[in-house]
Amino acid sequence: MKEYKIYHEIINNNKYKREMEFMQHGDYSVYDHSINVAKTCFMISKKLKLNVEVESLIKGALLHDYFLYDWHDKNPKHKFHAIDHARKAKDNAIRDFGLTKKEENMILSHMFPLGTVIPKYKESIILCLADKYCALSEVLNSNYYYRKAKEWVQS
Ligand SMILES: [Fe+2]
Ligand SMILES: [Fe+2]
Repeated sequence: MKEYKIYHEIINNNKYKREMEFMQHGDYSVYDHSINVAKTCFMISKKLKLNVEVESLIKGALLHDYFLYDWHDKNPKHKFHAIDHARKAKDNAIRDFGLTKKEENMILSHMFPLGTVIPKYKESIILCLADKYCALSEVLNSNYYYRKAKEWVQS
């Protein structure tokens, strides 16, 4: 994936690097999570020899959670984060990077079956699967949840 210019353009962009400030799953920031998801999407497309638009696959995957806030805070605006964040990520991504219709669909439908947007492209389906796989792996690999469980048992 490192041979693609779009990968470096996005992960080295200062606005994008704000994702490092926000945690996603356990010990993984939104930045770490998004890179994991992009790499997984890329691997799936290679392993299955899928004919995809690789640049869009990488771009949509890197930007799928570009909502830029801490969803763990108690702000009532983030109450419906699970349903709302894809639209926020899409709006931010259009503002800072521009998106094709396919990339918009990738971001808007990545929480499918949650939400109302259906994945319409191969790239969207790959992202939807890779995101769930990475979320689970990150939760299982995080010391954060182990520490929380230990605290709970000891309390
Ligand atoms: Fe998401
Ligand atoms: Fe995600």
